[in-house]
Amino acid sequence: MVFWPELLFSQDALQGAMSDAPKKEAPPQYSEYGSDLCLQCHGEGSAFPVLSIFKTRHAETSDARTPFAGLECESCHGPGALHPEAVMTGEKNIGIRSFGLGARTSIREQNQVCETCHKSKLGMAWHGSTHEREDVSCASCHRIHAERDPVFSIKDQPKVCFTCHQQKRADSFKASSHPIRYGKMACTACHQAHGSNTEFQLIRQTLNETCYSCHTEKRGPFLWEHAPASEDCTLCHQVHGSNHPSLLSKRPPFLCQQCHSRAGHPSVSGLPSGLPPSGGSALLLARGCMNCHTQVHGSNHPSGARLTR
Ligand code: HEC
Ligand code: HEC
Ligand code: HEC
Ligand code: HEC
Ligand code: HEC
Ligand code: HEC
Ligand code: HEC
Ligand code: HEC
Ligand code: HEC
Ligand code: HEC
Repeated sequence: MVFWPELLFSQDALQGAMSDAPKKEAPPQYSEYGSDLCLQCHGEGSAFPVLSIFKTRHAETSDARTPFAGLECESCHGPGALHPEAVMTGEKNIGIRSFGLGARTSIREQNQVCETCHKSKLGMAWHGSTHEREDVSCASCHRIHAERDPVFSIKDQPKVCFTCHQQKRADSFKASSHPIRYGKMACTACHQAHGSNTEFQLIRQTLNETCYSCHTEKRGPFLWEHAPASEDCTLCHQVHGSNHPSLLSKRPPFLCQQCHSRAGHPSVSGLPSGLPPSGGSALLLARGCMNCHTQVHGSNHPSGARLTR
């Protein structure tokens, strides 16, 4: 198994860095002093809070795979021996790798650094995923220097995603929505962060399977299925938020009339006047078609073929 960015430094350098031997065995472009050098300038009181990284998994020196068991800061930021001098002489290229949105380092190079250690955790799906293809960096979702990376918190994760997916933020505040705004659900309730082989990188094989993982009662099997419900929940629902009740994409009866013609509604004996098919006004009242067709997701009643019970 390869834990170390082989591209970046030799096996000798690795051994040098991991043993108790003096770090001067490392190639000259790496600092002899490890993080001690960096912390001279990036310690307490510097603009960017560097020190909190020592409270994270990456700083667990007892785990030989972590950066801090090896070349410390430089396992991510790259060889930095010449960086202090470059900074002092006011050079533009300040001789160090930087991360995240707006960083000098290319996103491809940034991600390679992380991937050399995280290939197995990322799984196969990352490569070719929409985020990878759109040049989204690991560091635009992960806060490496924060004691707690916000993407692991149900409450804070959506804010990370909203930095790019602003429409989803607006959706989450609509009258009907999944309880994201209350910090009770994160985007990863339905989405696989690093990609999946499903459309829209969903957590299950199909869209409906994703919904059934919580809404089990909608799975059926039903004696009388309603074809669109077993086919695709988003034929009627807007999952991220809607201003219609129950996350509906349209208000009934218009919702239903996208597929069912009103003209075709059969005469029903015993219906009060004004109800279908003679007039349309009752359809616009209250629950519209669902006044009678209550079982829109499917019915298990022996005489529920018309989804009325
Ligand atoms: C002599 C002081 C000094 C030392 C030692 C030092 N740095 Fe810096 N570093 C700076 C200054 C000054 C900047 C520029 C800050 C700015 O322009 O905002 C900087 C910038 C950076 C940046 C941002 C780079 C960018 O492109 O924006 C990183 C990352 C960084 N240093 C990491 C390190 C690491 C890792 C080490 C140890 C190998 C280190 N520094 C050692 C002074 C130092
Ligand atoms: C596991 C990889 C990793 C290690 C180890 C690491 N950093 Fe970072 N560093 C990052 C990433 C990613 C960012 C972007 C901001 C973030 O994710 O929090 C960053 C941001 C920075 C910045 C701010 C750069 C800017 O653009 O202003 C400085 C300075 C810095 N690191 C210095 C250090 C120092 C000093 C150490 C060692 C004590 C260190 N880093 C260890 C990955 C790492
Ligand atoms: C030198 C190897 C190495 C490098 C480089 C590295 N990591 Fe890690 N990382 C680890 C190890 C080891 C762990 C802890 C064990 C694990 O979770 O696999 C870890 C843990 C993590 C975790 C989980 C943290 C937690 O609290 O559970 C995240 C997220 C992560 N790394 C992201 C990154 C990102 C993003 C980068 C690039 C900026 C990066 N890593 C670079 C080795 C590395
Ligand atoms: C679109 C945002 C996003 C991007 C881009 C991203 N991650 Fe993650 N990552 C997450 C989220 C969210 C989680 C938590 C997954 C969960 O809770 O299901 C996570 C989890 C992790 C973990 C911990 C996994 C575990 O099983 O413990 C590691 C390690 C990690 N990411 C590394 C990376 C690396 C390396 C990259 C870049 C190649 C990357 N991530 C890119 C959002 C992202
Ligand atoms: C740095 C910007 C950025 C961040 C942060 C980000 N994304 Fe994305 N995401 C994109 C881009 C760009 C696309 C492709 C265009 C689009 O669909 O909007 C995308 C697409 C997606 C897609 C559609 C995938 C597909 O295959 O159709 C999903 C789902 C997604 N992101 C979820 C998330 C989640 C969940 C998070 C937070 C954990 C997140 N994104 C964070 C930029 C980002
Ligand atoms: C209840 C499940 C669920 C949750 C929670 C969820 N999504 Fe989705 N998302 C879906 C489904 C299903 C699709 C595909 C069909 C669609 O767009 O209606 C999708 C599609 C997407 C897409 C790509 C298509 C588009 O509409 O742009 C993006 C981007 C996206 N989601 C981002 C997010 C973000 C960001 C969050 C967290 C704020 C989030 N999603 C939360 C289920 C969910
Ligand atoms: C992680 C669990 C989970 C997943 C997955 C999930 N939901 Fe939900 N859903 C919920 C919760 C929790 C509520 C809120 C229930 C409440 O407020 O009483 C909800 C509410 C709803 C509502 C009613 C909203 C309202 O305003 O009354 C609809 C419709 C809905 N979900 C459809 C879907 C669809 C479609 C999918 C698949 C794309 C899906 N859900 C996936 C947990 C989930
Ligand atoms: C043919 C349109 C349609 C389809 C397709 C559909 N729904 Fe619904 N759904 C509705 C309507 C209409 C309501 C409001 C029902 C009411 O007010 O009585 C609703 C309400 C809901 C609710 C909240 C009330 C309740 O019954 O729990 C959930 C949750 C829900 N749907 C989940 C789903 C899931 C999951 C799927 C996919 C398996 C799905 N829906 C497919 C029309 C549909
Ligand atoms: C995306 C298209 C679509 C939407 C939207 C839709 N339906 Fe359907 N509906 C169908 C299909 C397809 C069938 C099956 C027709 C068949 O088997 O001949 C069906 C069957 C029915 C049946 C049983 C009819 C029969 O002949 O057995 C009723 C009742 C019904 N739908 C009511 C509704 C109501 C009420 C709504 C709105 C909440 C609605 N539908 C929305 C496509 C849709
Ligand atoms: C007042 C009650 C009521 C309302 C409101 C109502 N329906 Fe019906 N609908 C029925 C009854 C009862 C039947 C069964 C008739 C039969 O078996 O001959 C039926 C049958 C149907 C059928 C099956 C038609 C067929 O060819 O067998 C569909 C589709 C349908 N309704 C759709 C709708 C839609 C769409 C709406 C809203 C625009 C709606 N209904 C409003 C009572 C109602």
